[in-house]
This record gives sequence, C-alpha cells and structure tokens, in this order.
Amino acid sequence: MTMERGAVESIAPPDEPSDPETDRPVRRLIIAIDGPAGTGKSTVARQLARRLGLEFLDTGAMYRAAAAIAIDAQVNLNNAEEIVRRTSEADLHFDWTTDPPTLRAFGKSIMHRLRDADVSAAVSPVSGLAALRRLMVETQRRIGEAHPRLVSEGRDQGSVVFHDADVKFFLHASPRVRAERRAEQLRSLGRAADVDKIERELIERDERDSTRPVGPLVCPPDAMRIDTSTMSETEVVGHLESLVRGHLGEGSGSGAATL
Ligand code: DC
Repeated sequence: MTMERGAVESIAPPDEPSDPETDRPVRRLIIAIDGPAGTGKSTVARQLARRLGLEFLDTGAMYRAAAAIAIDAQVNLNNAEEIVRRTSEADLHFDWTTDPPTLRAFGKSIMHRLRDADVSAAVSPVSGLAALRRLMVETQRRIGEAHPRLVSEGRDQGSVVFHDADVKFFLHASPRVRAERRAEQLRSLGRAADVDKIERELIERDERDSTRPVGPLVCPPDAMRIDTSTMSETEVVGHLESLVRGHLGEGSGSGAATL
C-alpha cells in the first residue's frame, strides 16, 4: 500500500513539507481524535478540520477498505498475512484533491463499499489483526509527514500513531446515548432500530476494541477527555475548536480562521 502518490499529492514530499506558494516550511499541527463508535467523532473531526483549515484523515475508512478488499477477494478473515498482501496489492491510497479525500483501491474509489453491512460486520475483528495494524500505523505516520496539518481520527491516533500529536482529544459518551444516536441515524434512513440491541452490541464492541493486544482503544494520559453525552455535534466542534485555539495560545476566537 503506498497511500502517497505523486499524482494525487497536493503538497510537498514527506521529508520537507513546504507551503507551495511561499516555499516556506509549514507549521506542523496534528490533532488526534480517538474514542469509541457513536460519539460523533467522524463528523466532529471533519468539521473541526474545516474550521481550522486543516486536512482530515479518516483511519476507520482505511480499516474498512482492508476488510472490503478481503471480503471481495474471499480471503479468510483470520488470515492476516493474506489480508495485508491483498491490501498492499490494491494500492490503497487517498486522493487528497477531493474534500473529503477519496480512498481508492485497484485504481478506483472504494468509498461506496465502506459502510456496507458485510464490511461493518467484518471490520472490528479485521482491525484487530496485528500485521494489518502495523501496515496501517506505518502508512498513517507517512501520511502525517506528508500532510503535517491534520486532524486524524480513529482509535489509536493519540496513543500509538501520533503519540507526539500537538493536541489529543478522547471523545466518549454513555453507551445508551450512543445507541440512541445510532438508532436515530438508522430510522432517518427508513430502517428499523432496536436501541437495547444496539447498546448491547456497542458495549461488546467497546470491550473487544479496548482489550485487544494491539492498538487497543485507550484514552492517552495527555489527551483531553470530552464527554459528548449532552452535547450536539455542533457544540462539540465549537468546544474542541476553542480548546485547540486556547492550547495554541490564540484565545477562543472561532469561525473559519486558519491557525
Ligand atoms: O470509526 P469506524 O467505525 O469507521 O472504524 C471502523 C473499525 O475500525 C472499528 O471497528 C474500529 C476500527 N479502527 C481501529 O481499530 N483503529 C483505528 N485507528 C480506526 C478504526
């Protein structure tokens, strides 16, 4: 998996990122956002990136793509080596010229597969495979070098991938609230939703993600832990934005101003 290709890159090579207009080195700003499913992390991370003028990396999409590639190639989902081989073969990489960046495999977008039910069911165990995680961690670090002004979202971004991130957030919410949010999403798509069942599945998934031996879901000690249970996504974005600006000594000004 290359993930970084000259044809789709919009900024300078990894070793020396520079502003294309001024040719001056860019100021690194990596914001890591982790937390369990159902905290609104993805939407929040994407909106925060936009508000701060940063790029956005959806690392869950990378694991989903690996699961989709494995399923489509009919690979046994416990066969880590084969999944890594197929994922590398697929030349999985982001096209950074679109917003949000498009994940491509075998020369075409794989975005339409990422939320399919078979992929959603397979991705949690697949993302626990140590060899795949090694490939993903290495790739995400390379992306961070080439795109050093980044909001990176996942489960291990502050704890493993960017342990030196400039700002780290860990979003959480009670399982009940998260299950209700998910049920609401399903109903808005015209699908039936059983909140109790969703809650049970979320608790099981949290348990699996938190206790796996590689890249477990943990709140890094230097992360700001945000309980989103009683906040709307817009409120969370505004809160994180002011925390980032405060952290960087810019006061709490908000809006589309870049840092
Ligand atoms: O955030 P998401 O639902 O798109 O993530 C898909 C799966 O990948 C989920 O089971 C958690 C896992 N994941 C991970 O293990 N590490 C990451 N950095 C991102 C996602």
